[in-house]
Amino acid sequence: MAKDIVILGIETSCDETAAGVVKNGKEVLSNVIYSQINVHKKYGGVVPEIASRKHIEAISFVVEEALNEAKLSLNEVDAVAATYGPGLVGPLLVGLSYGKALAYAKGKPFIGVNHIDGHIAANYIGGNLTPPFVCLVASGGHSHIVYVKDYGEYEVMGKTLDDAAGEAFDKVARALGLGYPGGPAIEKAAKLGNMEAIEFPKSLMEEGNFDFSFSGVKTAVLNYLNRQRQKGEEVNIYDVAASFQRNIVEVLVKKLVEAARFKNVSKVSIAGGVASNGFLRQKLEEEAKKFGLSVYYPEKIYCTDNGAMIAAAAYYDFVKGKFSGMDLNAIPYLKIGEK
Ligand code: KG4
Ligand code: ZN
Repeated sequence: MAKDIVILGIETSCDETAAGVVKNGKEVLSNVIYSQINVHKKYGGVVPEIASRKHIEAISFVVEEALNEAKLSLNEVDAVAATYGPGLVGPLLVGLSYGKALAYAKGKPFIGVNHIDGHIAANYIGGNLTPPFVCLVASGGHSHIVYVKDYGEYEVMGKTLDDAAGEAFDKVARALGLGYPGGPAIEKAAKLGNMEAIEFPKSLMEEGNFDFSFSGVKTAVLNYLNRQRQKGEEVNIYDVAASFQRNIVEVLVKKLVEAARFKNVSKVSIAGGVASNGFLRQKLEEEAKKFGLSVYYPEKIYCTDNGAMIAAAAYYDFVKGKFSGMDLNAIPYLKIGEK
């Protein structure tokens, strides 16, 4: 039997300082996440400069904790991996520099990981999903439909032309006074509302179009709230949350299922923060069933940003012998499929 490969993965692209240790790209030995949400909450979103400083404060403790939980020393890991893009440049630099320094100090290979690649690889953790499949990556910064031909081999079928799905959740939640991050708050509020109450518009719904545009629905919600307030009519925020969530979920599910059929694959998966949405999971299961597609999604803890997904993605580079140089820089607008 081949030797086990154990990788330490570091993630600091946004507001989570995270590190995880993963064996063979699938078995999580530890996954430590220090969320800065409470720090950024009062500003209604992530403040990049504060995020960078908080990452610097937390990174060494988070990595140490990840190794402790995995009951391993740094000498025992086979490689160190860190996100190098896309994301906020200051935060990215903290995890990337830290990861490179650890690898250099211990003479271990270093692997720079694309954050979106990490989200997709979260689907391999603990499960039995194998390519090819079509994956919807929906988070605060990205909304992509990706044809995963093989491990680490991607074809982007569609992406958002403006706001990401998670960003739309965050902005609408803010307008409804539900706080940050918006996704979980909207999901909770939606449970108390009537999802058929309001019909918000959908964009780019013609067949074969796998791009997204969420700024229209976001603006429609804001206009609706203004109109109601101007008329002096009370707003049922639960109905707005439920109707908005239904709108986004219907668009995501339609395009994902259609993309899978277009590529003639039998499997679909979802990844990224929005993939933890229970209503999205339920609707996707229902729609996929109609076309005989199997649905895969990571456990919720691996949907939002974490280090284990970075270690999982790095494993497939490791087995191909694809390592990064010590001169690897952070690339804030790194695209998927680029190395
Ligand atoms: O993947 P992630 O942690 O960070 C990025 O790479 O952006 O995703 C965070 C995003 C936020 O916009 C958040 O509102 C959204 O994912 N999100 C959700 C849910 N949980 C997190 N959106 C909808 N429903 C949820 N339950
Ligand atoms: Zn993310």
